[in-house]
Amino acid sequence: MPGDKSISHRAAMIAALANGVSRIKNYANSTDCAATLWCLQQLGVRIDQTENDLVIHGVGIDGLRAPTDAMDCGNSGTTMRLLSGILAGQNFVSTLTGDESLCSRPMQRIIEPLEAMGAQISAKDGRAPLTIYGSSDLKAIDYELLIASAQVKSCILLAGLHAGGKTTVIENEVTRDHTERMLDFFGVSIETGKAEREPENARLAAVRGRAQLRARDVSIPGDISSAAYFIAAAALLRGSSLEINEVGANPTRIIFVERLRTLGFDVLTTNISEESNEPRGDIRVSSLEAPSRGHYKSPFMIQGSQIPQLIDELPLLVVVGSQIQGGIEIRDAKELRVKESDRIAATVAGLRAMGAKVEEFVDGLRVAGPIRLTGATIDARGDHRIVMAFSIAALIADGETEITDADCVGVSFPEFFDLLDSAVER
Ligand code: S3P
Repeated sequence: MPGDKSISHRAAMIAALANGVSRIKNYANSTDCAATLWCLQQLGVRIDQTENDLVIHGVGIDGLRAPTDAMDCGNSGTTMRLLSGILAGQNFVSTLTGDESLCSRPMQRIIEPLEAMGAQISAKDGRAPLTIYGSSDLKAIDYELLIASAQVKSCILLAGLHAGGKTTVIENEVTRDHTERMLDFFGVSIETGKAEREPENARLAAVRGRAQLRARDVSIPGDISSAAYFIAAAALLRGSSLEINEVGANPTRIIFVERLRTLGFDVLTTNISEESNEPRGDIRVSSLEAPSRGHYKSPFMIQGSQIPQLIDELPLLVVVGSQIQGGIEIRDAKELRVKESDRIAATVAGLRAMGAKVEEFVDGLRVAGPIRLTGATIDARGDHRIVMAFSIAALIADGETEITDADCVGVSFPEFFDLLDSAVER
C-alpha cells in the first residue's frame, strides 16, 4: 500500500519545524500529501524528493518564512487545518486556499480555538480562503473539542508548540492520534491519556509550548484506509485470498478490520511491530462461502464512539453491509456530510442506483441486506473515497458500472485502479 496519508502529512510538517535534516521513507504519493509539501516549500522549507522518499531540511520552530502568495491546499482538509495551527504561531500573514470542495468545508472549528490563542483569521462564512494573522506569542489554552475531529485536535496541538505554557485538548470520543505520536517521536514532551471526567471515553492530549524538535528519520507504514478497499474486495469476492504487508495498525484506525471480524469475515492481523512510534502489521483476508451473520433480522449497528475511528471507511462499510444478513445502519455520522462531498447523500444515491433499499437519516443511513447489486452509473461527486467504495460495489454487482470523476482517486491513492486490476482475476 502507499504510505499512510494522515501520517505523511504530520511527518512532513513536523520535520519542517525540527532542527536538522529528517529522512522520510514511503511518503504518500497522493495529491493531498503533495499539497502539504508544496505549502511547506512556499514557507521556505527545502525538500528533496526521490520517488516516495523525502529529505526535509528542518528550519526550526521559528524558521518559517512568509510566503509570497496564497498557498493552495487543493482538496486536502488535513493540509489546511493542520497547517493553520502552525501558521497561527508565526509572526507573519499568510493565506490558505483550496479547490471548490475544500473552500466549501467548515473551518470555524479551527478558527475559534486559534483566535482564542491570540491569532486572527479572516474567512468568509467560516470557509476558506483563510487569511491568518499569526503571532509568535500565542496563549496556551484548555480546549474541549465540540466535534470529534483529529484535524481540529492536531491544529490546536501544533499551535500549542508556539504558545507559552501548556495547551490541552480534551476529546470526548477517541480520534486518530498520529500527531501526538509524531510529536513525541520528534522529542516534544506530550502528555496523553484518559481525562478524569465524563464521558467515560474522554481523553486529553497536552503539549508544552516553545519546545525544540529534534530531526528524526521516519518510516511511514502502508495506508490502512487505502488497504480497506482491497480487504473488502477479498472478503466479498468468492475464492479470494489476499495478504497485505506492512500496513498501519494504529489502534485508532483499525476498527474497520475489527468490525469485519465481528461480522464473521476471515480477516487476520499478524506480525505487529512498531516503527517511528506507529504500529504496523500484515493483514490476511480470505473470502468465505457465505458471510456468516447467522439469521439476524436487525441491521448491524455502527454508531457513537466507533464513528470517528472509521470515518473514512464508512461508505465502504455500507457497501459491505449491503451483503450481510440484516444489512447495516450507521448513526451519529453527521460529519460525513462535510467531507470532500456529502458522503451520506452520495452513498445513498449510489446504492439506490444499484438496486439497494436504503433509508437516509440526517446523521446516517440504513441499507437492507443481503442484496444482489446491479451495475449502474454512479455520480462520485469528485470524492476519492466514493469512487473507491463504489468500485468495490461494482466488482460484486451484476453487469457493468460506470463511475464519474474516477480520476480523483489520486487525492489519496493514485495507483488504485492499476493495483485493483492486477489483484482481481477475471
Ligand atoms: C484526518 C482526520 C479525519 C479524516 C481525514 C484525515 C486526519 O478528518 O476524515 O481523512 O488526518 O487527521 P476529521 O478530523 O475532520 O474527522
